[in-house]
Amino acid sequence: MIIPKKVEKTLNVHLELEALAFFSYLAMASWCEKEGLEGCAKFFRKQSDEEHVHFMKFFDYINEVGGHAEVPPVKQPKIDFKDILEVCQQSLLNEQKVTKSIYNILKVTQQEDDHATEDFLQFFVMEQREEEVQFKRIIDKIHLIGKGPQSLYYIDKEFEKLVSAGNKDEKKAKG
Ligand code: FEO
Repeated sequence: MIIPKKVEKTLNVHLELEALAFFSYLAMASWCEKEGLEGCAKFFRKQSDEEHVHFMKFFDYINEVGGHAEVPPVKQPKIDFKDILEVCQQSLLNEQKVTKSIYNILKVTQQEDDHATEDFLQFFVMEQREEEVQFKRIIDKIHLIGKGPQSLYYIDKEFEKLVSAGNKDEKKAKG
């Protein structure tokens, strides 16, 4: 099976965004750790691990269908933040860029009659929807908790809960 050249090119462009997402979340985890926000650090570390999986899924797919997966250049993501709200707003912006890029690849697959890649992308369409909803909810919650003296403590607990809920879902999925 040979992937259409135009689709291969857009997938390779997209690889850079998944790599950047992997690094961005790692930078966010590191910032949270520095700030003593352990729950947040765990959450962003997990996000980073997931993005590494996404990167590899795209990478392996390109080679599987007869293309050439190109390792993208390494760019430094944003490493410093004003507060945890900015971390989450930046995350949402990054995810929206990834979603846009996936929709763009989908458009190219339709133009090129590449149903295999169209099918491969369905997982990511769902994944992006979930990630964007998740960050919108987190941002709402941070606003709700407000800026009182203990707010960071409660925000950190909320992130901890998200990590535990995710772990339980993974266990269930594995059976
Ligand atoms: Fe793999 Fe959430 O971008």
